[in-house]
Amino acid sequence: MKRVAILISGGGSNMLALLRAMTGDHPARAVLVASNDPGAGGLTKARAQGIPTAAVDHRGFGRDRAAFEAELLKPILAAELDILCLAGFMRVLTPDFVRRFEGRMLNIHPSLLPKYPGLHTHARALEAGDAEAGCTVHEVTAELDAGPILGQALVPILPGDTPETLAARVLVQEHRLYPAVLRRFAGGDRTPVMLG
Ligand code: GRF
Repeated sequence: MKRVAILISGGGSNMLALLRAMTGDHPARAVLVASNDPGAGGLTKARAQGIPTAAVDHRGFGRDRAAFEAELLKPILAAELDILCLAGFMRVLTPDFVRRFEGRMLNIHPSLLPKYPGLHTHARALEAGDAEAGCTVHEVTAELDAGPILGQALVPILPGDTPETLAARVLVQEHRLYPAVLRRFAGGDRTPVMLG
């Protein structure tokens, strides 16, 4: 059974989708949900599911990313994880941190990578006049939003879409894609999951 830790920054809807999927014959179980924000709504949801939580407020560390990560690493290493999932985690991690988990660290990004790494992905897709958008689960490497792709889900862009309406349509697919990728990845299969 693979031990999964999940990092969040906010509401944690992707984290919750992962927790709900890790039951029965799923080859993984959540052992920790941690956040850079003690007030993250997802921490309450994780606790309600009986999952241990931890929080390290990044604002106490100013620009010292390494010091923040050293603190965040304590509960993460204590969890003795096999897989680390970033799910709505909004802090950029240093290469040193990533190197510790390379090959067993996943992230979900709300665009069809390699298009639109970084922020404001939906506004950029709309601005470009794209016919479709979507989300990507990828392995996390030192380069932001650039690791091997483990799955993608496509959604149509519809007339009149705003970044908000598009984000809502993509988020539904995020909640399908991430659990499917985690199940396959935890079973040792890196074949990309492609959802229409
Ligand atoms: C989602 O759009 C996800 O793609 C991005 O963060 C947003 C919020 O995620 N990474 P969640 O509801 O906190 O899981």
